[in-house]
Amino acid sequence: MSDYPFLFSPTTIKNLTLANRVVMPPMGTNLGNDDGTVSPANVAYLKRRAKGRPGLIITEITAVHPSGIVTPNQLGAYDDRFIPGLKLLADVVHQAGGKIAMQIHHAGRESVFLLSEGKALAPSAVPSIVYRRTPKEMTREDIQEIITAFGAAAARAREAGYDAVEIHAAHGYLLTQFLSALSNRRTDEYGGVTLKERARFVLEVIAEVRRRVGPDFPVSIRVSAEEHIRGGYTIEEMQDLAPDLVRAGADIIHASIGTHGSPGAITQATPEYAPGFNAPLARKIKEKVSVPVIAVGRFNHPEQAEAVLARGDADLIAFGRQFLADPDFLIKAKEGRSADIRRCIACNQGCIEREMLGEGNIRCSINPETGQELIYPQGPAAEPKSVWIVGGGPAGLTAAYEAARLGHRVTLFEQETELGGQIRFARIPPYKGVYGEWIEWQAEQVRKAKVEIRLQTPVTRALLETHRPQKVILATGGEKIIPAVEGINLPHVTDAWQILSGAVAPKDHILVVGGGLIGMETADFLTERKKEVTLVEMLERSPVRKITSHGFMLHQRLQEKNCRLLFGTTLRAVREGSVEIERQGERQSLAPIDQVVLAVGLKPRNALQAVLTELNIPFTVVGDARQPRRIFEAVEEGAQAAWEL
Ligand SMILES: Cc1cc2nc3c(=O)[nH]c(=O)nc-3n(C[C@H](O)[C@H](O)[C@H](O)COP(=O)(O)O)c2cc1C
Ligand code: SF4
Repeated sequence: MSDYPFLFSPTTIKNLTLANRVVMPPMGTNLGNDDGTVSPANVAYLKRRAKGRPGLIITEITAVHPSGIVTPNQLGAYDDRFIPGLKLLADVVHQAGGKIAMQIHHAGRESVFLLSEGKALAPSAVPSIVYRRTPKEMTREDIQEIITAFGAAAARAREAGYDAVEIHAAHGYLLTQFLSALSNRRTDEYGGVTLKERARFVLEVIAEVRRRVGPDFPVSIRVSAEEHIRGGYTIEEMQDLAPDLVRAGADIIHASIGTHGSPGAITQATPEYAPGFNAPLARKIKEKVSVPVIAVGRFNHPEQAEAVLARGDADLIAFGRQFLADPDFLIKAKEGRSADIRRCIACNQGCIEREMLGEGNIRCSINPETGQELIYPQGPAAEPKSVWIVGGGPAGLTAAYEAARLGHRVTLFEQETELGGQIRFARIPPYKGVYGEWIEWQAEQVRKAKVEIRLQTPVTRALLETHRPQKVILATGGEKIIPAVEGINLPHVTDAWQILSGAVAPKDHILVVGGGLIGMETADFLTERKKEVTLVEMLERSPVRKITSHGFMLHQRLQEKNCRLLFGTTLRAVREGSVEIERQGERQSLAPIDQVVLAVGLKPRNALQAVLTELNIPFTVVGDARQPRRIFEAVEEGAQAAWEL
């Protein structure tokens, strides 16, 4: 019997039979063509996920009307010309033995693109919380047109061979804008004081979709179980509404959480939220309806999902980012290889934030294949080479694994006693343990891939001269920057790495120097231990942006724990019991300070480059050794170097 009997049990909803209880929820990819049609990259991405055999794949937000697109390349279903491309998506999922639903969507005011053109629509002319611009209030004709458009898009989904549709009424898009008292100020029948009153538009959309797809075709509605924002609707109100959604024609309720502007991006929850944290809200909805309910929220291992299903809190479990981090996780679970699952670390760097910040299409910080399916080499390499990887941090481990996977003969050198590079320290601050789990997973995969690992082995000129590998990948990381400041060599000056590793015990009144991630996370670590912390950073604004979910959480915690953050401030001198700082051209003394913790950052460690050049051994520099950055870049460059061997 499977380790996860509930997860692998089939279920039938109307005319749709799902092989298991796992749903891949909709995730916008930014991979579409510029005209909103399906691109080869869309197809390759979805095919790869379908190979992982979830019971149901719900595809990304697909626009029902040009007035509701988030970006020009968002997939569309508002014209018959989209059908052939959409059919390709349905085909790849069916060929893999899966089922597919289309998420139909209208952005309302949450489209910076339409807001900037003055074309965004919403129930009322209330500015977007995120983009701070004001949409146009929809007329009753607009409302009717959009209701009709939802029905027409659903009919196209059916025509394109989809097995179901999902109406997107969550996360702050148009349908939520009608549901929310914060955005719906209408005085006609589409407004109202209660959630039930404001739900009229949503109920009419469901009814129209049902009318167009017929009685047997499953219709899911995705809602935010609660808005999770001050003044937003509550789970109790949603519990009250849920039976109405079913009466209007919904066959499935997909219980997500949060809205645009919810603090800390709870919709794509960070490691502060435990896996499955949102399942209790799914249960609350389930108590009120007899249709299946999907739970979602940071599930990254089948075990957690199995427990939720066994308790009867939900009927289906959506794993979103987990399908980006490891599309094969379900197969691994079925085959009893759960330890091989690469678990999503909820960093949001490579996926949602990359897209929201306009950095590019969907990717994953820890899985270099995701979003690059068209260029991902399957191997084996035509000409296996002897490859040395120098450095066992994220970049080096990724390079080693990818090179070995492609059939190269790989030796990985690490001068320390253990693998992990910077992650050995980055895993220590609050809520960063997931990074440690990831690096351990990566090290284990490298071992399983038969990479020869040489710990405590610095690569020297002599070693290189003797063995002359065909190719070297330099992933030697970075070295600490020590600022030239008076008193910097005093015994009470230490650094973030010494503190995090426990080599130096923290004192009581601490100055952290440097407000990048290392400094902020070290301050988090110290305030957690009830230390009094002041942090100084030369830049006027924090380099850790609050717009990222991790940045938001860090700033919030440091503020709550009374950490003093001084931006635009430079350390000028360290003395016994105090420091001298400079702010806006003025020097001042800070006391008491009994410990100074340097976290000024890293500079590339690249001494071997000159040696390799001299010896005429080809090499590539990756990760922090090229320029200290995030794990996203380390993994990307490590993989790329291996692919190009
Ligand atoms: C890159 C990305 C894109 C997303 N796009 C959508 C979307 O198109 N429609 C939607 O309803 N939710 C979207 N979501 C939210 C996910 O469906 C899911 O609810 C969320 O990621 C939480 O689940 P998880 O913790 O399992 O990832 C997106 C999430 C991510 C990470
Ligand atoms: S980028 Fe981070 S949050 Fe997104 S899927 Fe990958 S590991 Fe998860």
